[in-house]
Amino acid sequence: MGSSNGSFKLRIFSALLLAANCVTGVAAAPPQHGTHDYSQKFSSVAITGGGYITGIVAHPTEKHLMYTRTDIGSTYRWSEPKQQWLPLTDFIAAENVNWMGTESIALDPHHPNRLYLAQGRYVTDTDPAAFFVSDDQGASFDIYKAPFPMGANGLGRNNGERLAVNPFNSDELWFGTRTEGLWKSTDRAKTWKNVTNYPDAAGDGIGILFVVFDPKNSGTIYVGANVPNGLYYTKDNGATWHSIPGQPSAWDPALLHAGHEPASTAPLPMRAVLAPNGILYVSFADFPGPYAINYGIFMKYNTKTQVWTDITPGASNTYPAPFKPQSWPPGGFCGISVDSKDPDTFVVISLDRDPGPALDSMYYSHDGGKTYKDVSQLSTPEGSGGYWGHPISQAKLKDSTPVPWLSFNWNSQWGGYGAPSPVVGLAKFGWWMSSVLIYPWDSNHVMYGTGATIWATDELNKVDKNKAPEWYIQAQGIEETAVLSLMSPTKGAHLFSGVGDIMGMRHVDLTVPQPMYEKPVFSNCDNLDYAGQNPDVVVRVGSSGISYPDGCGSGLYSKDNGIKWSMFGSCPPGVGNQTHLAGTIALDASGKSFVWGTLPTEAPYNETGPPSTQDFGKTWVVPKGLTVSTMNVAADNVQAKTFYAVHGGVFYISRDGGVSYKSSPASKTGLPADAAAVPVTSFDKAGELWLPLGKSGLWHSTNFGTKWTRIGPKGLVAIYFTLGKSAPGRSNPALFLWGKVSPSGSEALYRSDDAGATWVRVNDDTHQYGGASIIQGDPRIYGRVYIGMFGRGIVYTDIAGNSGKNVPGTFGI
Ligand SMILES: *[C@@H]1O[C@H](CO)[C@@H](O)[C@H](O)[C@H]1NC(C)=O
Ligand SMILES: *[C@@H]1O[C@H](CO)[C@@H](O)[C@H](O)[C@H]1NC(C)=O
Ligand SMILES: *[C@@H]1O[C@H](CO)[C@@H](O)[C@H](O)[C@H]1NC(C)=O
Repeated sequence: MGSSNGSFKLRIFSALLLAANCVTGVAAAPPQHGTHDYSQKFSSVAITGGGYITGIVAHPTEKHLMYTRTDIGSTYRWSEPKQQWLPLTDFIAAENVNWMGTESIALDPHHPNRLYLAQGRYVTDTDPAAFFVSDDQGASFDIYKAPFPMGANGLGRNNGERLAVNPFNSDELWFGTRTEGLWKSTDRAKTWKNVTNYPDAAGDGIGILFVVFDPKNSGTIYVGANVPNGLYYTKDNGATWHSIPGQPSAWDPALLHAGHEPASTAPLPMRAVLAPNGILYVSFADFPGPYAINYGIFMKYNTKTQVWTDITPGASNTYPAPFKPQSWPPGGFCGISVDSKDPDTFVVISLDRDPGPALDSMYYSHDGGKTYKDVSQLSTPEGSGGYWGHPISQAKLKDSTPVPWLSFNWNSQWGGYGAPSPVVGLAKFGWWMSSVLIYPWDSNHVMYGTGATIWATDELNKVDKNKAPEWYIQAQGIEETAVLSLMSPTKGAHLFSGVGDIMGMRHVDLTVPQPMYEKPVFSNCDNLDYAGQNPDVVVRVGSSGISYPDGCGSGLYSKDNGIKWSMFGSCPPGVGNQTHLAGTIALDASGKSFVWGTLPTEAPYNETGPPSTQDFGKTWVVPKGLTVSTMNVAADNVQAKTFYAVHGGVFYISRDGGVSYKSSPASKTGLPADAAAVPVTSFDKAGELWLPLGKSGLWHSTNFGTKWTRIGPKGLVAIYFTLGKSAPGRSNPALFLWGKVSPSGSEALYRSDDAGATWVRVNDDTHQYGGASIIQGDPRIYGRVYIGMFGRGIVYTDIAGNSGKNVPGTFGI
């Protein structure tokens, strides 16, 4: 048996090397006609992490060479000179978005320039997963489609590494799949063969979690799968396989809490590290993770004597002793890193003590696990009341740049992701800390990934003296938020974001991380709007996960450009704190009328039109004339009380603040019969609006939607559409389109300066990011557009040479 896929080969160069070419041009004299094709500069909006770091992998010999993988944002390489992580796969096209997650990273101990990435986000995706093969540390890749699926955003993504290079044969790679057992390639990941004699294919969707070669014994490989007794080894390079004798095959009843059965019948392997002295350290849990783990153990296996020793950190071997009130859940174990200079010195991290006051811990041992120091407790400042965490003042980069959003400083009012320390003034030590690395070139430098970022210290030795090491953030350059909404008003901060899990930010400076929005807080911020003629009034809607007695925690407005926020007096009928209801918020030009296109699922709320309020949510009115529940609402930015909706081909307009609507069928307006999209309204002309209708093209109206015309070339596909500041000498706004401007063209970002007659491509093949999830033009900076991705954060692009005089984020305030 076997499967070959060698026919497909694609040579792709990442943005890394080519980005420099894109900033060489300088804005030429502005054209009066047509659309000028400028060089563009691309930059990330600095949030610094914002998503799950699933792996940190260092080369064993090449100094400073390390990579980090993420679940939905692919892989980054550390640049020591730049002190920054560099994205390696921004070239991924929208059609290959499934490649935007890294299932595993493999390095070749003998060829430091070689990099192997196993790319695929979801096992259920119909697009194939792939191996990205590089000979230049990820500056360019050959891509080979894989004959099995991958699931970088699936359960068990915290474990690994599934992919490994045979240290005795650089052409040979092995890969533990989620669904098809163990596979082997003898041509550097071009083609793969099923290792059908492997005894336990464990094709349960999580499958084989790690493949560990013994670099001292040719042919010896350790493989672990997400099943009880899931540890196997071979000494003859896979000719025969054996169960590792003595592995834990049942839970110790003393570990278990009454009334809480473990999720597995025996400990499941999570990660394994083979130390140079032949000790295999293995972490175990009762569930693959990264969430829902209740129990776990940590063991070492002497591969020479075949003896197992339970070295689980606990009350009898750890200082300080485990925090007392912490009883449930005790959690499992996952991340392990062994000091490159001493095989008995290592760290291991618990997984999923959340929620609880103690949270997860990093344990540090110098004696092979006989005794431990609890790094998390020792990092806790005095006066924390027993809660563990870093002081908030430490949420900063090594160069002291603050990363304020990481403080999660809202106490019990945080209803979202990652449950922050319940003590105001403490950022918690971490959660989902499954990736950890003792820096091979400095044993006091340890870094660990969390669900949100990478923390690091250069003072691990301080815990030996029972002192707190100083921690800093080492995630600069990693941008992996899932972007849900973007807003660029005509005044104040240039950019407001709504993102998944960490709410979003008012980006007064695009180059440094910002605080999250003030209270009340959301986990997801789904939509934003501003008042066209009163742009200090802004609004956001999202999911808070918290029910408030005195207002609507899902809908908030601000009268000072998003610094302080107030809840609507009440939620509209049928809306609670849930994420799926948030929908679209539209705020009229004056800042007094709001229309909320929510998405209630229960009758009767799902059978009315979008409710409106004229009194900041004290009362909500269900409209007349628009009786369907729709998210496709927008406000006119010039004329007060004027709202638009497009649903089922019907165009609706309200001129009384959303209380009543007049409707016009497609046959009258000229729109397609199935037209449905959120209208995009001019920021300076009343009654001018656009409608992006996918394959049905881009539509335009200048008379309050009475008549519509299709604009742009034939075959234009309008997936996302936004407006930006006019080109010099033009009165119409610049149009930005994510889509196609010809049927056979590429899906890309385009700009038109002349109202849609001519278009130029804005992004090149090295800046595709797996496709956008949203685009937003800037009404104050010609040529600037913000691009939001699902897993690659926010990127903004400027006309090269134009960005220098526009200080990012602060220009025009
Ligand atoms: C690969 O082999 C395993 C047995 O080890 C089997 O369960 C699986 O179906 C095979 N998959 C393919 C695609 O050949
Ligand atoms: C969210 O609202 C629902 C009802 O809409 C309620 O049952 C639930 O308890 C609320 N969640 C929180 C955390 O308050
Ligand atoms: C409204 O929700 C009910 C279920 O609560 C469903 O039966 C009905 O079809 C929904 N109506 C619409 C218009 O979606």
